Amino acid sequence: MLKLGIIGTHIITDQMLDAAKTTGRYQLTAVYSRTLARAKEFGEPYGATEFYDSLEDFFDQGDFEVVYIASPNSLHYEQARLAIENDKFVILEKPAFVNPEEFSRIESLLAAHPKARLVEAARHIHTGLFKAAQKKFAEMDHRQGATITVMKYSGRYDKVLADEKPYPNIFTKEFAGGALMDLGVYAVYGALAMYGVPDSVVYFPTMAKTGVDAKGVAILTYDGFSVTLNVGKTAQSYLPTEFYGLKDTLVFDSIFDTTKVTYYDDQKAAHPIEANYYENSMVDELNDFADLFEDPTDPAQVKNYKAWQDLARDVNAVMFNLRQSADFTFPADTNR
Ligand SMILES: NC(=O)c1ccc[n+]([C@@H]2O[C@H](COP(=O)([O-])OP(=O)(O)OC[C@H]3O[C@@H](n4cnc5c(N)ncnc54)[C@H](OP(=O)(O)O)[C@@H]3O)[C@@H](O)[C@H]2O)c1
Repeated sequence: MLKLGIIGTHIITDQMLDAAKTTGRYQLTAVYSRTLARAKEFGEPYGATEFYDSLEDFFDQGDFEVVYIASPNSLHYEQARLAIENDKFVILEKPAFVNPEEFSRIESLLAAHPKARLVEAARHIHTGLFKAAQKKFAEMDHRQGATITVMKYSGRYDKVLADEKPYPNIFTKEFAGGALMDLGVYAVYGALAMYGVPDSVVYFPTMAKTGVDAKGVAILTYDGFSVTLNVGKTAQSYLPTEFYGLKDTLVFDSIFDTTKVTYYDDQKAAHPIEANYYENSMVDELNDFADLFEDPTDPAQVKNYKAWQDLARDVNAVMFNLRQSADFTFPADTNR
């Protein structure tokens, strides 16, 4: 059993702990929260026995080897830094880091702490369906672009509309929020996992009154084709995601909450992609990460880890370049 500590006590941590239980490979021991009362309230029902309201004590004294970090985006860097300095295995929620500067500093720190590992929780690329779809896509002989939509109305936007302050973290620049960071990252992952790094990128955001992007369209240009991303937190889309061949197409019902992928052949016949499927879409990533943490020097795991790191670095760079193209910065871009 991998002993687990957690940072962040909101809904996604409940989902993660539910998935961790399904894997049967993690045991929650320690909870950090800004208040001890919240740490206990959240952690006790899951069997946690250690509770902290000091991050330093959590890392110094906590009895765990894996830490799951699900805090607001702009806090990831400092918390991951502390975790790596304490030689932990780190599962960091998406988007892992705000900019390439943070990413590169963390990579240097990882090099200085060879026992530590850090993985970005891009749950959708670890699912059985995504992996099977990737395999099918590799077999399509003429690949030419995609339209990827990740647009979901956020209940938290109600507070912005009602002018209720403080605005939710995810709609603020201070916490590196907005549509691209929160949901666009899934689309960027989808594009890069299939096509690799684009030659150039451009983002056309619609800004919310809080200073972050409410929704937007991004275009990733490759040699001979482009990929269009529709992202948003202030509208609800029902569009699927499509990856194009010449006469054939690979269709995801959703790139980030994938329940069904269909391959349409050159005769327009539909072939469902078959794969193992979990209702809780975090189970596959937690199994992948447990494989790594249980045997970090195994050559197959070293290879997986490198591939995840390479992809995460590329996604981080593309996300930053998209923001730059729209002249859209966060305090975290200049603070460090
Ligand atoms: N993989 C997925 O499907 C998925 C889904 C949702 C979110 N996420 C990611 O998970 C992370 C957290 O998202 P979220 O929506 O849960 O964020 P959030 O509700 O704003 O905050 C998450 C936790 O961070 C702590 N926190 C909140 N405000 C804080 C502040 N001002 N200073 C310090 N700590 C604060 C709180 O824990 P305490 O009160 O215990 O300190 C809170 O439970 C983000 O990176 C997000 O992108 C991933």
